[in-house]
Formats: sequence, structure tokens, C-alpha cells
Amino acid sequence: MMIHENISLLPFNTFGIDAKARYFAAFASMNELAETLGAYGNNLRLVIGGGSNILLANDIDGLVLKNDIRGIEKQREDENYIYVCAGGGENWNAFVRHCVSNQWAGVENLLLIPGSVGASPIQNIGAYGVEAKDVIHEVRAYHINERANYRFSNEDCRFGYRESIFKQKYKGQFIITQVIYRLRKQPDYNTSYGAIAQQLEKMGVSALSIRAVADAVIAIRSSKLPDPSVVGNAGSFFKNPVVLQSMFDDLRTRFPEIVGYSNADGTVKLAAGWLIEHASPPEGGSWKGFRRGDVGCYPHQALVLVNYGNASGPEVWQFGQEIIASVAEKFGVILEPEVNIVGKRE
Ligand code: FAD
Ligand code: EPU
Repeated sequence: MMIHENISLLPFNTFGIDAKARYFAAFASMNELAETLGAYGNNLRLVIGGGSNILLANDIDGLVLKNDIRGIEKQREDENYIYVCAGGGENWNAFVRHCVSNQWAGVENLLLIPGSVGASPIQNIGAYGVEAKDVIHEVRAYHINERANYRFSNEDCRFGYRESIFKQKYKGQFIITQVIYRLRKQPDYNTSYGAIAQQLEKMGVSALSIRAVADAVIAIRSSKLPDPSVVGNAGSFFKNPVVLQSMFDDLRTRFPEIVGYSNADGTVKLAAGWLIEHASPPEGGSWKGFRRGDVGCYPHQALVLVNYGNASGPEVWQFGQEIIASVAEKFGVILEPEVNIVGKRE
């Protein structure tokens, strides 16, 4: 176990924010985790994987722990499913590629999402009609204060849209060490998301395959989402807000082009990207493509905020708050951050 002191977190967050950590350590095994918590546990402020869903709003005056627990192992199979255990520090995309190449179905729509396996249950990652909850069988986690191992079934995790028990009741209490996924032997393709169907048609795919769906996802994502190794970002900065049907009807009367998707429970999920694109910064015009200093709203996807170089955490957060205020003023809808804002001072 190696504890680093006063280090820059720049290499550890995809937003490219140069915040500092008082202490920093990585753990590659349960023993290393227990040992580090034994010595520095009272100072723990943040656990990270790939740092692709955080905005560091300030320096961190405490310990930052990085999950490096590796390993992808097929545990067992039954007639319909393969059960695969992956270490929390495994790269999520590498895990998906492993599944695709073995013809294990269920995660192909989630290709190219940055970050770690251990973070996949935290916000129940999702893309193109599939969510982590559709494939998670069990989550193994370490309780930070009790220093004890726990197992959570899929139901225990209380998954919702970008939600889980680890963001609610158990926020900050557990470190996810391993996740067991249940993958299908026979694919059950999900091409319900409009962009996927369009892309498959464009690619001339007549017979679906796991590879074809994966290729469609790669093509869509590469055209819309910025590559963090080129321009700093953490994906969607806000969640798509969920409103009552009556509010949607009212909004549609005033803004006939507004984009929303009906949920099974009668609510409507609004496309936050549309709301942001149709609201304005104080300088005028649209937020989409707008840049101030090194902070910007991505020109191809308004829901993504970007760091063009040396933006600070507080600058990005200020920009985000201005977007919240302008969308609230124009549409009466309050956007919530999807990214975890770390170290924000109220
Ligand atoms: P981090 O950013 O390191 O951490 C995120 C949160 O989880 C923090 O609160 C952290 O404390 C906590 N955490 C992380 N690991 C653990 C652990 N082992 N135990 C306990 N807590 C932990 N997300 C989607 O859902 N869908 C998308 O389509 C998508 N597209 C993206 C595209 C781009 C270009 C980028 C940059 C991001 C995108 N994201 C997307 C967001 C991000 O990739 C996911 O949220 C991912 O799961 C974050 O993983 P991470 O390891 O980087 O988490
Ligand atoms: N739209 C606009 N303008 C924009 C962006 C979007 O009008 O600038 C409208 C369009 O009508 C578009 C619709 O919004 O058809 C939906 O856009 P998109 O398909 O890009 O998806 P999204 O709702 O903006 C969500 C997730 C993404 C995920 C995609 C695909 C959230 C907060 N974001 O984005 O996840 O990849 O769907 O499933 O739910 C992330 O979480 O970081 C992330 C990138």
C-alpha cells in the first residue's frame, strides 16, 4: 500500500480538472483496502474508479481511494445464462468487449461507456434502451465503517433511472468491490432506441447480431459524444427530467417541438439536451456550442459540458448553475446534475 500526499487528481478525472488530494491511494485487493482503511479510514472523502462521472469542485482535504481490483471470471452457467464476476476496478468497456467477443449477450448497448465496473451499479449506467440493472445479478461491497463484506441482490439495489440505493440510503457507506452480471446465451436484442434502429438501417444490417448492435452503438456514440482524451467531459452533465403527463401537455402547447418519452408509469422523460439547446446564456443565442473561457456546452450534444483546457471545477459548476437557472426560467423545469459534484461548498 502506497499513500501519496498532496497530489494532483488531473490524471484521475475525465473532466480534466486540476484539483488536489491531501492523500491518495489505490487498492488492488480486499487486503489492501482493509489495510488502507485501517490506517487512513477516518480521512476517507472519495472513492473513484475511472473518474468519468465526477466534477471536482474543490481540492479534497482527505483521502481519495482508487479501486484497482481486477479480474473477469465466468462463475457458472445454467440453461439460459452465464454468470460472470468482475472486479470493481476493471474497465467497464473492456468488460463489455470481453462479453461481446464471447457472444455473451446483454451489455452490447452499453459499449464505450467510460469508467469502472464498480461504478456501474452506483448510478445504474444506461444507454440506448438498456441499463446495468438489466444484467446485474449481485453486487459485492465493503462497508466502510463496519469493515465488513455485504452482498446485494438486484432487488436490494433499488435501481431506477440513474439511481440506486448506493446514491440514496447508503450514499458514501460502501465500496463496491465486485459485481456479478447475468448474461444471456441467446441474445434478446434491444433496438427500441430510435437512433439504434436508424443506424442499423444505415449500415444495411438485415440479420441482427451482437456484433452489429455493438457496431451501431460505436458509430452513434463516436458521432455525438466527445472523447475525454481529446476534450475534458463527464458525459451528460444533467439527468433527463421526469415530469407528469399534464406538465408535458402544458409544455407542448407552448413549445410544440419539445422532446419527451412516455414512461410506463404515466410520467414523461424530457430530453434535457433539447431544453438546454432552446434556452440561452446571458450573452444571447443558444447554450449549445456556447463557450466562455475554457468551459463550454458541447456543439454536438447540449447535455454535455466540456473543459477545453484549463477550466476549474468552480467555473464548470458556475456554468452548470447558469444553465439550470435559464432552463428553469424558460420552461419551469429544474435540471438536476447527473455528474457527482465533489467538494461543493454551498
Ligand atoms: P467515477 O467517476 O470514478 O465515480 C462516480 C461515482 O461513483 C462517485 O460518486 C464515486 O464516489 C462512486 N464510485 C465509483 N466507484 C465506486 C466504487 N467501487 N464503490 C463505491 N463508489 C464508487 N453514463 C451512463 O450511464 N451512460 C452513458 O451513456 C454514459 N456516457 C458517457 C460518455 C462519456 C464521454 C463520459 C465521459 C461519461 C459517460 N457516462 C455515461 C458517465 C460515466 O461513464 C458513468 O457514470 C460511469 O459508470 C462512471 O464510472 P467511473 O468508474 O468513472 O466512476
Ligand atoms: N437533443 C436535442 N439537442 C441536443 C441533444 C439532444 O434536441 O443537443 C434531443 C434530440 O431530440 C435527441 C434526444 O434529445 O433525439 C435524445 O438525445 P440522445 O439520444 O443523445 O440522448 P440523451 O437523452 O441526451 C441519454 C443519456 C446518455 C446516453 C444516451 C443514449 C442521460 C442523462 N443521458 O442522453 O448517457 O448515452 O441517452 O441512451 O440519461 C451519460 O449518462 O453520461 C450519457 C451520455
